[in-house]
Amino acid sequence: MISRRSVLGGALAAAGLPLLAPGSPAGGEAHAVEALPPAGPRRAPDPVPAAFTTAMPVPRVLRPLASTGDVDCYELTIRKTTAEILPGFSTDVLTYDGHFPGPVIHARSGRRVLVRHRNGLQMPVAVHLHGGMVPPASDGNPMDVFAPGTSRTYSYTNRQPHASLWFHDHAHHMESEHVYRGLSGTYLLTDDLEQSLPLPKGQYDVPITLRDARFDEKGRLAYTMADRNRTTLLANGRPTPYFQVAARKYRFRLLNGANLRILALALSDGTPLTQIASDGGLLERPVAVPVLTLSPGERADVVVDFSRYPVGTRLVLTNSGPGGKPEQVGKVLRFDVVRTAEDPSSVPRVLRHLPPASALAAPAVTRRIELSMDEDGRPDPRGFVNGRLYDPDRVDTTVDFGSSEIWNVVNTNKRVAHNFHMHLVQFRVLERGGVPAGPTEAGLKDTVRVMPGETVKLHVTFDGFRGDYVYHCHMLDHSAMGMMATFRVR
Ligand code: C2O
Ligand code: CU
Ligand code: CU
Repeated sequence: MISRRSVLGGALAAAGLPLLAPGSPAGGEAHAVEALPPAGPRRAPDPVPAAFTTAMPVPRVLRPLASTGDVDCYELTIRKTTAEILPGFSTDVLTYDGHFPGPVIHARSGRRVLVRHRNGLQMPVAVHLHGGMVPPASDGNPMDVFAPGTSRTYSYTNRQPHASLWFHDHAHHMESEHVYRGLSGTYLLTDDLEQSLPLPKGQYDVPITLRDARFDEKGRLAYTMADRNRTTLLANGRPTPYFQVAARKYRFRLLNGANLRILALALSDGTPLTQIASDGGLLERPVAVPVLTLSPGERADVVVDFSRYPVGTRLVLTNSGPGGKPEQVGKVLRFDVVRTAEDPSSVPRVLRHLPPASALAAPAVTRRIELSMDEDGRPDPRGFVNGRLYDPDRVDTTVDFGSSEIWNVVNTNKRVAHNFHMHLVQFRVLERGGVPAGPTEAGLKDTVRVMPGETVKLHVTFDGFRGDYVYHCHMLDHSAMGMMATFRVR
């Protein structure tokens, strides 16, 4: 059955005209009506195509080179290549083994993964497993880089529960541009608990990395620090694509892989997203989320049940976050329901058990962490943690192995949003602005947004490894400006 909506949509798309989001929710009025391009002097051609003209790829899953006993071994080359991001344009990108969007590594708790990276770039690199409890030598600390032409083996012990993690470049001062140009991949860690649940699996479990970009008229990725004009949204490396789905449940593993942009995601018919997981794995219970906010580095797994829609339906994932006009950044991707399928999956009412906030280990120390940056419009703004620029030779905070602490993280800026990420640990968000954190932040987290003037109260336990790790704003342009510091677990 083909709906009128899809016929109309197809005709509009064929005519190169933007589509109306079917039944845009309240707040979407601005993007429901789109002006035609103004008549008058012709501007330079914009290489960015109309929305929903390219298909969203599913990122490639890497196969281990060898699997022995309890280890999977991978070998990747970090190299420059080209990708067709915009139809008809070949764009230089930096990749893990030629993959844009970045590839996927599947891992299992208790089973080790070794990844040998060869640096085929002209620049030093460091590979960080974001959200991973990783020994210091394999954490990809900003100063722990390896040179062009050399290799480095990272050892991931996976001594932590399931979680949707990601890996990305972390070379000091270069991480932001390297990630922007493509050095980002997905690392899906699973365990027996997660596998025992009847959630959508296999082809119905799809990682989607969302990010933004700015392209010049030749279709090249344009990078300048703190660029406010990255207004082309990419889903798995394609501009506002469509994705064909069956009329059944899907699990989407959403990652905000943008450098600065906060996303506020919703379905165009107003149906809430069912969030089942955050940074550190499953929530205790699924949560119906009308608008899902994700700051850079944060993940959320959502289940969408397309069985409620007739075949032929087109459903847009919209964005109402800041940073651009709705006609530029208001649409993220479109789900096209194209067939029916069996659906043995379901979302259990209880997904896992986590200790309630009241049962967490008593904190030994309470700290105040202040995030700020120059916001007076100077050309080269600096970023600070507790008033200091990042200095890799300084240990800013020393904690005792095995202890728990409260970190009150404050954004002291008036206008600029930040977020806060710690290596090594998954923490709990106790309060946001003095009130208990909402259900979407009630699970294990490694990255949390901190809006201007806001304070988030975190409970952190340091029982993973001893050594030096960084914490920073994950708006990577800001960490590259210096908004990063070191903690030592002793
Ligand atoms: Cu994704 Cu230091 O972080
Ligand atoms: Cu990290
Ligand atoms: Cu920041």
